[in-house]
Amino acid sequence: MPIYYNEPQRLFHLQGPRYSYVMQVTPEGYLTHLYWGRRLHSHDLAWLLPPLPRKLRGQFRQPPVPECRYEPLETLPQEYPGYGGGDFRHPAYQVQLPDGSTVGELTYLTHRIEPGKPRLSGLPATYVESPDEAETLVITLADRVSGLTVDLTYTVFAHHDALARSARLQNTGSGNLKVLRALSAALDFHRSDFDFLHLSGASNRERYIERTPLRPGMQAIESRRGASSHQQNPFIALLSRDATEDHGEVYGFSLVYSGNFVAQAEVDMYHTTRVSMGINPFDFSWLLEPGESFQTPEVVMVYSDQGLGAMSRTYHDLYRTRLARGVYRDQVRPIVVNNWEATYFDFDAEKLESIARVAADLGIEVFVLDDGWFGHRDNDESSLGDWYVNTRKLPGGLSDLAKRVSSLGLGFGLWFEPEMISPDSDLYRQHPDWCLHVPGRPRTLRRHQLVLDFTRPEVRKAVGDMIAAVLRSAPIRYVKWDMNRNMTEIGSAALPPERQRETAHRYILGLYELLERLTTEFPHVLFESCAGGGGRFDPGMLYYMPQTWTSDNTDAIGRLKIQFGTSIVYPAIAMEAHVSAVPNHQVGRITPLETRGHVAMAGNFGYELDLTKLTEKERATIRDQVATYKRIRPVIQFGDLYRILSPFEGNEAAWIYVTKDKRQAVAFYVHILAEANPPVRRLRLKGLDPDRTYRIEGMDRLYRGDELMYAGLYLPDPWGDFQSVMWHLQAVDG
Ligand code: DGJ
Repeated sequence: MPIYYNEPQRLFHLQGPRYSYVMQVTPEGYLTHLYWGRRLHSHDLAWLLPPLPRKLRGQFRQPPVPECRYEPLETLPQEYPGYGGGDFRHPAYQVQLPDGSTVGELTYLTHRIEPGKPRLSGLPATYVESPDEAETLVITLADRVSGLTVDLTYTVFAHHDALARSARLQNTGSGNLKVLRALSAALDFHRSDFDFLHLSGASNRERYIERTPLRPGMQAIESRRGASSHQQNPFIALLSRDATEDHGEVYGFSLVYSGNFVAQAEVDMYHTTRVSMGINPFDFSWLLEPGESFQTPEVVMVYSDQGLGAMSRTYHDLYRTRLARGVYRDQVRPIVVNNWEATYFDFDAEKLESIARVAADLGIEVFVLDDGWFGHRDNDESSLGDWYVNTRKLPGGLSDLAKRVSSLGLGFGLWFEPEMISPDSDLYRQHPDWCLHVPGRPRTLRRHQLVLDFTRPEVRKAVGDMIAAVLRSAPIRYVKWDMNRNMTEIGSAALPPERQRETAHRYILGLYELLERLTTEFPHVLFESCAGGGGRFDPGMLYYMPQTWTSDNTDAIGRLKIQFGTSIVYPAIAMEAHVSAVPNHQVGRITPLETRGHVAMAGNFGYELDLTKLTEKERATIRDQVATYKRIRPVIQFGDLYRILSPFEGNEAAWIYVTKDKRQAVAFYVHILAEANPPVRRLRLKGLDPDRTYRIEGMDRLYRGDELMYAGLYLPDPWGDFQSVMWHLQAVDG
């Protein structure tokens, strides 16, 4: 059993495969955090509660009047701290009482330990398939003045070094409570000698790795855009200063949520560090009437004592197998061709069919029709919300096109942007109040569009019905679900004034509800999420859609950093990566087709170019790439990733995927800019079995795993910029 309760000490010891997480209830009832780190053997751990700093030790005296107290909460390491009672650090929650006060203090009420993992109602979360895969502890805390109770849920997985946490706030009192802040998790480390790592960027350069030393004060990342965002991913890690890719302690925090979030680390005067994460309290509040409850999203916390690489592999395994769902979870993903960069809005059925014909000949498996097939959309200025086919472009309708594509032996996929509405659309003309807006204020357009008010059930139903009708009208087996702007004027015509600040979160709940409906109704459709590239690449979306368009930047060299950063948390099978034309449409760079292929093979592989314009030589290369990827994709999509050389640190990048049984591996190396008179280099592979012998495709000699990992392979002399190599290794023994 991974969760132990030491009754006399009121101490909880949670044991993952390689970690321990220890909490204790103090005599006053405070839930304190004692330890998270490498697995401890003993359950007699109460000594871990830190002694009071000298200055505060004289404080436990009888106060002169009963209504006063001495409570040095300021230094107590806590699990779900409040504000107003002497702890001046950022709280995990804050609730306003009917009398206007906002002081809160939670103490232990009860707890229970149960097998398995409960689902979170209305929210995405990691799950188990049988009760013996995990154990869950629910600790209930109560505020004796307000009637607020909080259930803190902790799930320990039997086979993953992850701990899933969330909180449920309930109003058990008789007056309304206004929740001003309800984070998912907090905890206090007794030290601050960490580095803070996060994934930051912008459109076309998402999830760049940033690592800086923690310093006294607050370090935070957040989104206020209504989506998890291109700018900051809902993930942070604390690393011991000496931690590297393969060594040292790393603590990861990943929020299973797609909207506004905050993730922060606060170093106080005693050099302790409070980490907290959850829905961004900025522009948020939630009215909790008597009897109602509020469920926070889940934070998945991962401990590694073997560097960042092991942390990533824990997230990859957990998110691939116990966050993503549906029939495609365990299936190899198809090679697609998408017409966006090939045609943009300028296509007709013949043009599309001609691309599909070449795709079929080259071995590609799915044709995805992107933006521009509906309403009267010839550019991005109209028709979002009018989800019926543009018969001028596609006179036979979608079913005719889908049949033509299917008859070539390809699956047919379709793009939607269901959360949006163009002012120039029938939907807007009929329902001008169906967008997020604030009466009397201008509605700010972005890409000529507004955001639909998904807090409203009738809006979700209307959009869901239109999409379902399209999906029923033709043999569609793939959907790309796009979302191309952030929220402004975040208000809902359907909510009363006191609930307006619930809009952004209610929107995400509404989005999740619609996704649940459509993915349940169409289980055989492979859903891919997208947000102007990777503007909502988060675990919340992964729960509904098992893969994401990683970035609109399809430049191979640009993608090196984007994909490296994305791989810190997300598995290769979640990343869609395509080969596009040169000069590249985002940055103008010209890279060899071979390198574009190798870089796109770091995820679910595909093409995003006009295949009808290829030369014979390019066709031959692509035919070969497609055949190669089909052979190696199980290794990439289901294997373990080891990052070898980081493009953030130099002129090269290298990485390798190894199957769980270590019998197969695929390694990639990219040399970015040519150098005169370069040194002779060897690349040391990782993750192999040192005792196995491997054959490398295209090479005569056999190598043992130890030779490949400890001595390394000689790299070819690079000639020209942007050169790459791929090695496919197969064990020849055992
Ligand atoms: C943004 C996406 O990221 C692109 O791939 C493409 O689908 C466009 N939207 C279409 O508008």
